[in-house]
Amino acid sequence: MRLVDRLIVSRTEEAVHIRCPAKVNFFLKVLGKRGDGYHEVQNVMQTVTLFDELKVRRQNAGVTLACSGEDIEGDAEENLAFRAVELFLKRGHGSGGIHLELRKNIPVTAGLGGGSSDASCSLLALNELFHAGLSADDLRSLAAELGSDAPFFVEGGTALCTGRGEIVRLLPPSPRFAGILACPKASLTTPEMYGLLQSQDAEGPDLDLVLRSIERGDLTKTCSVLFNSFERAAFQKVPELPRLKKKLEELGSIGVVLCGKGPSLLGIFLTPEEAERGLRRLTRSQELETRFAVVVSAL
Ligand code: C5P
Repeated sequence: MRLVDRLIVSRTEEAVHIRCPAKVNFFLKVLGKRGDGYHEVQNVMQTVTLFDELKVRRQNAGVTLACSGEDIEGDAEENLAFRAVELFLKRGHGSGGIHLELRKNIPVTAGLGGGSSDASCSLLALNELFHAGLSADDLRSLAAELGSDAPFFVEGGTALCTGRGEIVRLLPPSPRFAGILACPKASLTTPEMYGLLQSQDAEGPDLDLVLRSIERGDLTKTCSVLFNSFERAAFQKVPELPRLKKKLEELGSIGVVLCGKGPSLLGIFLTPEEAERGLRRLTRSQELETRFAVVVSAL
């Protein structure tokens, strides 16, 4: 089933209600800076069951946005869902105006791809609303104009993203897992984190190892080759991160990895029961204060 069909909650001729998933990274190797200022990456991403809620409704004219929920900041014009709608209309794929109602549940600036997901899911919803018939490749090209991570969310699932992140190769679904997503009380910005990278941060397991372990459906092997180039810099900047990683391991996680540029961590567990039990112990524990902690699974 197409991801969009699993994400759409309801649709009429007037409005589409869609869920916008968060992502985690099994592997994120930053290879080096390019001439255009972006970095070349090898990025294995996975959509997970934590969602923003987006309602896209026709109106006579203009694009408007009402945003509610977690950590909202900034002007509507800077919001990636808003910019996605403007881009879609400007390219002539729809007409009239659009009102967006966005409920943020995915914490912002936490490395979970919320803004990119909102952007891509807006395009998916508009494609349905206007019966525009854009292909996944068409939608990815539009999404690439909005952000390097946005094209991944057109089909989501498990994928290898290369180039600056916009070249997407779908992979077989990752082995089933349950995860705790946990974030210390800090936020990190993307340009800042790219700026802190050093050449040593490109050293890590070979991409082929993680691709092969995913193809074989081998969760334990996948957990042994989890890698993220941002981990050294993020762990230095946010002292709670190494402690949170240790805690997740103590709670029975078989692999812990940073999400994107951080500071969220994904702790992988063999079963949802173990993850739920781990989450209860984490939230009860007084040693570590978290900005949020939730249980997710692969989508
Ligand atoms: O593409 P996006 O707008 O998400 O990128 C935000 C910033 O992150 C870029 O301006 C750039 O500084 C940095 N970036 C990078 N290499 C990438 C993706 C992002 O240097 N592959």
